[in-house]
Amino acid sequence: MKIVITGGAGFIGLNLARAIIRRGTLTGPSGQQEEVDNILLFDQAVPDCLPDGLDERVTMRAGDISDRDTVFGLVDRDDISVFHLASVVSGGGEKDFDLAMRVNLDGGRHVFEAARARRGLPRVLFASSVAVFGGDAMPHVVGDSTKQTPQTTYGMTKSIGELMINDYTRKGFFDGRTVRLPTIFVRPGKPNAAASSFASGVIREPLNGEECILPVKTDVQMALLGYRNAVAGFVGLHEADGEAIGDDRAVSLPGNTYSVAEMIEGVKRVAAVNNIESGPITVRPDPAIEVIVAGWATHWEASRAKALGLPNDENMDRVIQDYIDDFMPAR
Ligand SMILES: NC(=O)c1ccc[n+]([C@@H]2O[C@H](COP(=O)([O-])OP(=O)(O)OC[C@H]3O[C@@H](n4cnc5c(N)ncnc54)[C@H](O)[C@@H]3O)[C@@H](O)[C@H]2O)c1
Repeated sequence: MKIVITGGAGFIGLNLARAIIRRGTLTGPSGQQEEVDNILLFDQAVPDCLPDGLDERVTMRAGDISDRDTVFGLVDRDDISVFHLASVVSGGGEKDFDLAMRVNLDGGRHVFEAARARRGLPRVLFASSVAVFGGDAMPHVVGDSTKQTPQTTYGMTKSIGELMINDYTRKGFFDGRTVRLPTIFVRPGKPNAAASSFASGVIREPLNGEECILPVKTDVQMALLGYRNAVAGFVGLHEADGEAIGDDRAVSLPGNTYSVAEMIEGVKRVAAVNNIESGPITVRPDPAIEVIVAGWATHWEASRAKALGLPNDENMDRVIQDYIDDFMPAR
């Protein structure tokens, strides 16, 4: 079978591709385990060479998700699953409303229509976000069925995507599943435009011996999940029994709540264990980031994910150690 990962050159997309390569099979529209013979990574820009951990089963294509014909060209087999991850992220969506609408709404609709046009019921996994919740209506602990009152354009587009996934599934157009993510850490490489980007930067930059400029105060709390378990959540929800998911196709992945101060303690602890001299952290609040982050859920309850057996992190130190093992091989 073929797997399409939109946003496939991004943080989660690449790690998801590696996990599918290692696994070798997924459940196809036939309902049976099928060998994955092609993973297509689609993104607005793709690397010149195949990143580590991928092999000849992987192809990469550059293009714009908001171009309908391009998207229909990606979803070109009936034995297919689509992981739709391409997105303008939170900070980017606040800066450019029209871009967020075009990429997240129009692009999402093209992906869903392309899957709908296939024979059978391909599985379509959609990456949603904690940003669908927020504002005065949000309770202290957010759960799977908390009312969605997003406080960013990004969160609004994710909320609409969730509703489309539910309705396309109800109509029998495809078998849709939404993976609703807390903030995922530790992103390797460069920061992205997500307002939550500092949650990775506060770990990554010190481990690389670089200075981290923190755009929020250290008492800020966030729900976080390590990237290994985020990827396991995508694969696990893809493989889950559709009946067990029911008519609400959206499942919040688990996460643990940490303050930024706890993240700083964590990186120092794990750096010491690995004999790494960590770089300095400077708090320099950025009001544009602070206001977005203040609107997000901090306490996160993921009972549906737990019932489906989707994993949570053991603790923060484990995730930081995973990052060192996976992304700092030169050490
Ligand atoms: N990482 C997190 O903490 C987090 C949290 C909640 C939700 N999510 C969601 O998970 C998904 C993946 O996140 P990520 O962390 O890998 O983000 P990422 O920014 O690394 O990846 C998203 C990819 O989408 C691509 N993209 C953007 N516009 C595009 C366009 N017009 N056409 C084609 N590709 C385009 C980007 O180039 C990027 O590579 C996103 O949908 C994101 O909103 C992520």
